[in-house]
Amino acid sequence: MKKMLFIVLFFAVLALTACGGAEATATPASIPAEFVGKTNPLGADAATAGAEVFKVYCVSCHGERGHGDGPAGAGLSPKPKNLPELAATVGDDYLFWRITSGVPGTSMVGWKGALDDEQIWQVVAFIHTLK
Ligand code: HEC
Repeated sequence: MKKMLFIVLFFAVLALTACGGAEATATPASIPAEFVGKTNPLGADAATAGAEVFKVYCVSCHGERGHGDGPAGAGLSPKPKNLPELAATVGDDYLFWRITSGVPGTSMVGWKGALDDEQIWQVVAFIHTLK
């Protein structure tokens, strides 16, 4: 019985550390297997279409230049990420995964469903044009 309690406590602690409250997600987190190694099937010119997607779906929180300073992002905790900074440290598979699936427990929802894969890759291409 004691052992059972220990196991329950162990998983409770694990769950708590995994969620981390309102702390920003440590990046880069490990990419799920089905996303690892994915590369953008579109050329760099997809960034033009990506700019439009970004304007409609992302600017409100991430800001015009993706610095995480959009008006709707101001009151959020954690704050929207600075995307050019992040893009310098992670691969396209990471970006595609996060935009598709979101960051659980934050205002960053997954965009799968709202956007198709092509639009997500367009926006990934656009993020690379940000400074
Ligand atoms: C409602 C506000 C909101 C909108 C709209 C939004 N984001 Fe986010 N985004 C966030 C927040 C908040 C975070 C920070 C999450 C964290 O710190 O873990 C984030 C994080 C990210 C990250 C980094 C995830 C990581 O692992 O660090 C990427 C990439 C991203 N957003 C891309 C996008 C794209 C592309 C769009 C548009 C399709 C978009 N976001 C729309 C709020 C938003």
